[in-house]
Amino acid sequence: MSNLEIQIGGMKWKNPVTVASGTFGYEYDELFDLSQLGALVTKTITLNPKKGNEPCRLAETRAGLLNSIGLQNPGVEEFITEKLIKYDKYKTNLVVSISGSTIDEFCQIADKLNPYDNIDAYEINISCPNVEKEGLAFGVEAEVVRELIAKLRATTDKDIIVKLTPNVTKIEEIARAAAESGADIISLINTVLGLAVDIETKASRIKNGIAGYSGPAIKPIALQNVFRVAQAVDIPIIGMGGICNTEDALEFLMVGASAVAMGTANFSNPLITLDIIKGLEMYLGKNNTNLREIIGSFKLQ
Ligand SMILES: Cc1cc2nc3c(=O)[nH]c(=O)nc-3n(C[C@H](O)[C@H](O)[C@H](O)COP(=O)(O)O)c2cc1C
Repeated sequence: MSNLEIQIGGMKWKNPVTVASGTFGYEYDELFDLSQLGALVTKTITLNPKKGNEPCRLAETRAGLLNSIGLQNPGVEEFITEKLIKYDKYKTNLVVSISGSTIDEFCQIADKLNPYDNIDAYEINISCPNVEKEGLAFGVEAEVVRELIAKLRATTDKDIIVKLTPNVTKIEEIARAAAESGADIISLINTVLGLAVDIETKASRIKNGIAGYSGPAIKPIALQNVFRVAQAVDIPIIGMGGICNTEDALEFLMVGASAVAMGTANFSNPLITLDIIKGLEMYLGKNNTNLREIIGSFKLQ
């Protein structure tokens, strides 16, 4: 058996495979033992409950999925009283994804979650609108990211994973701002902006208009972003975006990700994470190699 264990930030993962925030609820528990994953990542939690956007919130396209869920979640208080305990039975790392509409809100959420030892890391979702900056996403301005992560760093000893949006011009600048202000890990990519038109109504197929695009179509976009970020920072990367099989996962590891996450693929194959864990084991065994040799082994020329 190949050794899939990784050290990532302050955490030890039994394998480099996890799930993408918002795509993996407790219902998967009925299908397999979630302790087999390297880590579990929750849906993004906000300070106050959010009922999310009006339907239609999901639309399938030829090569991917459009979504505009609107961060529907029960808010941090109910998450603590009702949901957090459900993760206790899993012998794996727990990453709680958090988001706010101001820097202070992010810090308030971290303050409330800090006492819970079963939380290993926060994933900071910076794709959401910043109300102090006319609703511009936090993740598009390096200076805002720097201030946000520095303030969060001062509030917590847990690992900080900063999740980058690909909807920027120079992703390296955002990644560097996160790393320099105290992030332990970077994850990417969040969804790519997309639109689908209903030709009968001449309106967007998604009620909210422009939406987030995910699934197989975004894999090349994600790969080049992961590659560029891996050249720019020294902290580890969790790569995601369109991963559907072991070969996809290997591509992300080769361009510099230390771990991989599956999102949309869970909807068509709920066992995709297990398939990829087994596939990675087989690949390493067959090629008599190890993760250390694979990660970052890609050369552009
Ligand atoms: C239905 C849906 C809900 C999502 N919700 C969140 C979320 O709450 N927080 C977040 O950071 N990303 C969210 N994402 C983005 C995914 O975590 C992931 O970054 C993106 O979908 C790319 O990976 P994939 O192509 O494997 O799905 C969501 C994606 C989908 C499809």
